Amino acid sequence: MKEIDWSNLSFGYIKTDYNVRINFRDGAWGELEVSSSEYINMHMAATCLHYGQEAFEGLKAFRGKDGKIRIFRLEENAARMQATCQGIMMAELSTERFREAVLKVVKLNEHFVPPYESGASLYIRPLLIGTGAQIGVHPADEYLFLVLVTPVGPYFKGGFSTNPYVIVREFDRSAPLGTGIYKVGGNYAASLRANKLAHDLGYASEFYLDAKEKKYIDECGAANFFGIKENTYITPLSTSILPSITNKSLMQLAEDMGLKVERRPVPEEELSTFEEAGACGTAAVISPIQRIDDLDNKKSYVISKDGKPGPVCTKLYNKLRGIQYGDEPDTHGWVTIVE
Ligand code: PLP
Ligand code: COI
Repeated sequence: MKEIDWSNLSFGYIKTDYNVRINFRDGAWGELEVSSSEYINMHMAATCLHYGQEAFEGLKAFRGKDGKIRIFRLEENAARMQATCQGIMMAELSTERFREAVLKVVKLNEHFVPPYESGASLYIRPLLIGTGAQIGVHPADEYLFLVLVTPVGPYFKGGFSTNPYVIVREFDRSAPLGTGIYKVGGNYAASLRANKLAHDLGYASEFYLDAKEKKYIDECGAANFFGIKENTYITPLSTSILPSITNKSLMQLAEDMGLKVERRPVPEEELSTFEEAGACGTAAVISPIQRIDDLDNKKSYVISKDGKPGPVCTKLYNKLRGIQYGDEPDTHGWVTIVE
């Protein structure tokens, strides 16, 4: 194994030793198989290739000061993958089988879990795809569930530091009654042009408004949005955003800290009233927002006047990371220790 510079990892793919796979055939999921191949051999008419029967998940494992490996909220990711499978008519995998696969692949690749001091983590990527052949538009009768892992650093530049974002009206990532609430690859394909547009202009990521009225904040490329004002944590309620497990956790932590929590439509204009704001997700953790520009209307909503993360974002970030790395007590039962 080549030496890994743990403290300078970006959010990219590094080959690890093993992945695990379970096949669904003849109406049932089979035994878990361990593979050291990075490739999948499949039928050229597999539904994942033609009709987008593809679900994925993202979760992380952390090495604590005590050397133990902790996985954050894996049951929530299992449940969301089941919801995605229902959404695009794929065979569902039980939480027990999901847990078995995730624990196995982390254990097998234990030496790829970055050291505590590096602040990096092991990203766990479960994937569930239709492998059965179809030419008519129908669900497959065979599926593959696979979990790969790769060590990662921060998703957004600078980790916990503020970044600028831009509202993009030219493209929608999902429709109000579409697949935005599911974690399917198609949503990300739909986001590529908006994401490139934002990056080319020097922004960390694109921001989406609701596709119907273009009035309310939806989410950004690969993270949910939250704003803080008057001791309240406010996050959009929308039928086209991914139900983020990080956001759900932050809502709980905010409540624990004595903040009020509101989940409701957030009109674009309200951005000018937030004292702090952030993008949140497994990859992003919390990425505090410096400003959000609306280029079409020549507006710039500056959220962090001094360019630094605000006190509430900082407190939430420290608390969340503390639980994930085992520095803070896991009072909500969010952590699974890999034995
Ligand atoms: N929104 C989108 C579009 C995402 O891709 C992600 C990443 O998973 C999130 C939000 C954050 O979700 P979570 O906190 O469950 O990782
Ligand atoms: C995550 O936060 O896990 C994501 O899925 C982000 C992304 C790389 C798609």
